[in-house]
Formats: sequence, C-alpha cells, structure tokens
Amino acid sequence: MNKIINGKEVANIFKRKLKEEINNFLCMPKLAVIQIGSLDASNIYIKHKQKACKEVGISFELITYDNNIDEIVIKNKIEELNGNPSINGILIQLPLPSHLDSKKIINYIDPKKDVDGLTSINMAHLFNNVDNDEAIAPCTPIGIMKLLEYYNIELEGEHVVMIGRSNLVGKPLLSLFLNKNATITICHSKTKELACFTKQADILVVATGCKHLINKNMIKENAILIDVGINNVEGKLYGDIDYNDVYDKCLLITPVPGGVGPMTIAMLLHNVVECYKIQNKHSITS
Ligand SMILES: NC(=O)c1ccc[n+]([C@@H]2O[C@H](COP(=O)([O-])OP(=O)(O)OC[C@H]3O[C@@H](n4cnc5c(N)ncnc54)[C@H](OP(=O)(O)O)[C@@H]3O)[C@@H](O)[C@H]2O)c1
Repeated sequence: MNKIINGKEVANIFKRKLKEEINNFLCMPKLAVIQIGSLDASNIYIKHKQKACKEVGISFELITYDNNIDEIVIKNKIEELNGNPSINGILIQLPLPSHLDSKKIINYIDPKKDVDGLTSINMAHLFNNVDNDEAIAPCTPIGIMKLLEYYNIELEGEHVVMIGRSNLVGKPLLSLFLNKNATITICHSKTKELACFTKQADILVVATGCKHLINKNMIKENAILIDVGINNVEGKLYGDIDYNDVYDKCLLITPVPGGVGPMTIAMLLHNVVECYKIQNKHSITS
C-alpha cells in the first residue's frame, strides 16, 4: 500500500485551479516580497516563490535591503506598498536580522495584503474563529489542512499531537484543528517525556527543525504523520521524522521534500488570490 501523502501532486492540482481563476481576472495579481539581508535559505525560498507565481500568472516584485537597514525605511516602504493599488500581497521574508523586531514590522502590513496571515489582526480572526471572508490564515497551516482534507482524513474526535508552538506553524494549527473538532495536544522544547505524548497521537504534526526527532518507538501503530521540518544537512533535505524508520508502522506520511513544502507555496498563491479578491470587492463597493 502506498502510504505517501503526496503534497507535490495536490499542490499542482491547486495551482492549476488558481491559474484558471486568475485567467478570468481583469488584471494580473501582484505580490511584493521584501528581503532584508541575503541568507542562502531565504534566497532559495524566494526563488521558489517567484517561480510559482510565474507558473500561475501572478506578477512578482522583489525589494531587497542590506542587513543593517533601519526599521523606518522598511516601515515607509510597506506603507507605500499598502497604498499602491497594483500590489495585492506583501510578504516579509523571514527570518529578519536580529536588530529588527519582526512582529512589529509584520504589523505595518495592511491585513488585507498580508499574504502570510501573520499580522495580529489576521491571527486574531483565526483564534476567535471569526466567520470572516476577509481573514487570511498562514500558508503552512492551511496547506496542511487542505492536504488532510484532500486525503479525506477525518479530524473530528481524533487526537492530534503537534510538536512546535511557533506563530508560523504550531499556534495557527491549534485553532484550525480545534475548529474541526479534533482534540489537540501541543508539545515544545520544554515538554517532558515527549514520547508519552507522541505515542498517543492519531495524527502527529512535527515542526521543530530537529532532524529525525521522531522515530518508530515514539509513534502509535497506524498513526498519520505530518512532517513540516526542513533540515538541510550538507545539501540534502531531511524531515523532523525518521521517514525510513517509521514507514512500516505508520498509516500515512508526508515525505520531505515533496510533502508539506509544496503545499505551503501553493497556499501562498492562494492567499495572493484571496487578497486580490478582497481588495477588488472593496474597490467595487466603495
Ligand atoms: N515545509 C514548509 O513549508 C515549512 C514551513 C515553515 C517551517 N518549516 C520548517 O519547520 C520547522 C519549524 O519551523 P518554525 O518556523 O515553526 O520554527 P521555530 O519558530 O524555530 O519553532 C520550532 C518549535 O519547535 C520546538 N522544538 C524545538 N526543538 C524541540 C525538541 N527537541 N523537542 C520538542 N520541541 C522542540 C520549539 O520549542 P520552543 O517553543 O520551546 O522553543 C518551537 O516551538 C523548521 O525546520 C522549518 O524550516 C517548513
């Protein structure tokens, strides 16, 4: 039996649908990405995003600054982009250099252009479970939910154990799983006896950045495993789950690469399109 949750394949289906939708728009949606510094990993992620935008017909602008740039310059640029009607989405490539406060900078973005769903307003919509068609959720968490939905994985009453509590992944997933009536346990680096929790998981989601943190002795028979981790060791990518070790024991698993990663990019494109629609709705009604 094939146990692979194929994120690449599902992401391609989403991208095809988005491309068709964009073809019917009056003008091309546009994403602006702000990069501060030049981390190798960020350069690679930005290239992937640019390529994906091109594939579906989203225009892409990269704005770059040196590592030592002042916050005020970035604030002014974001405000200019907020006011520019030809820009539909704004993304700050993370992580930022240590002298910059990423939470403060992200909150300069107009929530209607916040394609990463990381402004406090968009986070609050998610945590309050507000039925609001203008709320934008972070890309990796919604990518995971779409993958589970695509594979018809029942969530109601299931015990989801999530390792990692970041704003980018763990915290938004808490709300998304609760909204689907799952029971959720969140673990982190200070959790004692991690395996006691992971062994109880019907669905285990791991987002720590620790290569092969999870092995077969830490999972339940027939668990569904979602590996968010990306660990680059000497040019080769590894997940947070020891894929070969757990494969026989689990029911389904996302590979690294080819699992959650492609869905994250597809959901970024989805969020640009959502932002475009929100802004066009406002320009029609105002
Ligand atoms: N595939 C994708 O599209 C995608 C998207 C986003 C992120 N990622 C990857 O996912 C990983 C996590 O990303 P992130 O942004 O959430 O990272 P992060 O902000 O560094 O958060 C990591 C989380 O893991 C916890 N943790 C670290 N070591 C642990 C351990 N030994 N045992 C239990 N918990 C541990 C941390 O606990 P504390 O809170 O106690 O520090 C923290 O909550 C990274 O590898 C990243 O590259 C992949």
